Amino acid sequence: MERLVRFGVSLEEGLLRRFDGLLRRCGYGNRSKAIADLVRERLVEEEWRAEGEVVGIISMLYDHHQRELSNRLTHVQHDHYTSILSSQHIHLDRDMCLEVVVARGRPGEIRRIADLIRASRGVKHVRLSMSSTGKKL
Ligand code: NI
Repeated sequence: MERLVRFGVSLEEGLLRRFDGLLRRCGYGNRSKAIADLVRERLVEEEWRAEGEVVGIISMLYDHHQRELSNRLTHVQHDHYTSILSSQHIHLDRDMCLEVVVARGRPGEIRRIADLIRASRGVKHVRLSMSSTGKKL
């Protein structure tokens, strides 16, 4: 584990009060962990603006009765097999499927996979969750 460094932060009183309220509602025990999480969140955003390697989680919701859709989604994933680490398919009910794909690669490549999935006819909802390899966090 890396050495911890203490530093002082000056904040407006009202802003700090609201921040502390947020921490209580979110279940944080202290400010240090909350501030570190905010910093990491921002660093991950920056990773997604650069050209390095990131990790993305794409979730998609669709009706498997939609003609050719399952084939198309499989096709998109095969076309990007070098980036896709895993996928999980959940049959939510008789009609709806939830699929979760974890991908690792350049931000543009992962966004492209999510866009191709989103643009497929019959896909009801797609979410790209931007995460990190954790190497620089
Ligand atoms: Ni299914």
